[in-house]
Amino acid sequence: MRILMVCLGNICRSPLAHGVLAHIAATNELGWTVHSAGTGDWHVGQSPDRRAVAVAKKYGIDISRQRARHFISDFFDEYDRIFVMDRQNMKDVLRLAKREEDRDKVSLFLEEDIVPDPYYDEDMFEPVYKMIEKRCHDLIKTL
Ligand code: 4NP
Repeated sequence: MRILMVCLGNICRSPLAHGVLAHIAATNELGWTVHSAGTGDWHVGQSPDRRAVAVAKKYGIDISRQRARHFISDFFDEYDRIFVMDRQNMKDVLRLAKREEDRDKVSLFLEEDIVPDPYYDEDMFEPVYKMIEKRCHDLIKTL
């Protein structure tokens, strides 16, 4: 299973989802590939936001070596499932889809809800981390 986590900047939400799911998948020896990318390119090559790195570290997960990437349409061929954090991410990713098969790979990470962007709200990193962690535990059971 090849999974891609997508948000806007690829420095807050998707690096957390990437780090947490990769960690749980590795612990369970699932052999999954988990990566992330952003629909925007402003932060390409950068480490995740220091607040995201800090909250992950608090729970024993090191995301500091990740580097931000920009989502490109080739990624539809490189991944089996693409999880987006909010509805704008969904629109931006779907706009790059070439075929129905590409669109079918894309879903909201939280299914019925969005992961709020914590970038401008320091206090949101902890609740966002918790939301992501809970969903990752569900994902390894259902994917
Ligand atoms: P992310 O958060 O999409 O969760 O990585 C953001 C990071 C940076 C910006 C927006 C959202 N930005 O506008 O630079």
